[in-house]
Amino acid sequence: MNNLSPAELVLVKKACELTRDALNYCEKQIVPGITTKQLDNLVEKYIIDSGGYPACKGYEGFPASICTSVNDMVVHGIPSDNVVLQEGDIISVDLVVRYKGFHGDAARTFPVGKVSEDKLRLIEVTKQCFFEGIKKLKVGHRLGELSHAIQEYAEKNGFSVVRELVGHGIGKSMHEPPNVPNYGKVTDGPLVTENAVIAVEPMINMGKKEVWLIEDGWGVVTRDGKCSAHYENTVHITKDGIEIWTM
Ligand code: MF3
Ligand code: CO
Repeated sequence: MNNLSPAELVLVKKACELTRDALNYCEKQIVPGITTKQLDNLVEKYIIDSGGYPACKGYEGFPASICTSVNDMVVHGIPSDNVVLQEGDIISVDLVVRYKGFHGDAARTFPVGKVSEDKLRLIEVTKQCFFEGIKKLKVGHRLGELSHAIQEYAEKNGFSVVRELVGHGIGKSMHEPPNVPNYGKVTDGPLVTENAVIAVEPMINMGKKEVWLIEDGWGVVTRDGKCSAHYENTVHITKDGIEIWTM
């Protein structure tokens, strides 16, 4: 696991607060008729005005400040003038803020206007997967306990867990060790250590778990075309428990 110094932790926490604020701001902009590119422009300005930098921009060539993934898109949607949000859609927004060289990472799935009961249930179960997972995140325990709990809760509710994408340590880099899968055995993974900071991010499909990459090289969509949801927070592990820094 990564292990950050007290001075580094202060900066990661600040980056996480900017991440949280930008996501809350983004949520307020979501209305039927807005394009995902308009959202990207608004949130980019918000992040920069708040003193942070939208770290997705330019990351391995990603062309925008936030990821906007609508309905059957799981993650990494590129904001576009051609994607107009419609009443009844769900949109996952994932964003990373860099502050003085340190990162915070969070994602939420939001309903657009009034959405169906089954989509709302997908959003709620995905969020609860995160909380079921972090209940098991304890110093000295295996990280696999978290992974297993997330998978169990998702599948118990009739949904499936994406395998190709996982959570991660975070700090000076957006992605640091360890990998934080949303599936697996309680005996998997490293032992959890204090002063680690990780992004826990269940990606849960309404239908089957299989996904594929679209032609733009970024967007990941479900193969069966059913909806997917994402819920992510950056969390700090202490010997006394977990602090959720992006909420
Ligand atoms: N939050 C995403 C992650 O955990 C970050 C993707 S940024 C992108 O991987 F630039 F790769 F899109
Ligand atoms: Co992440």
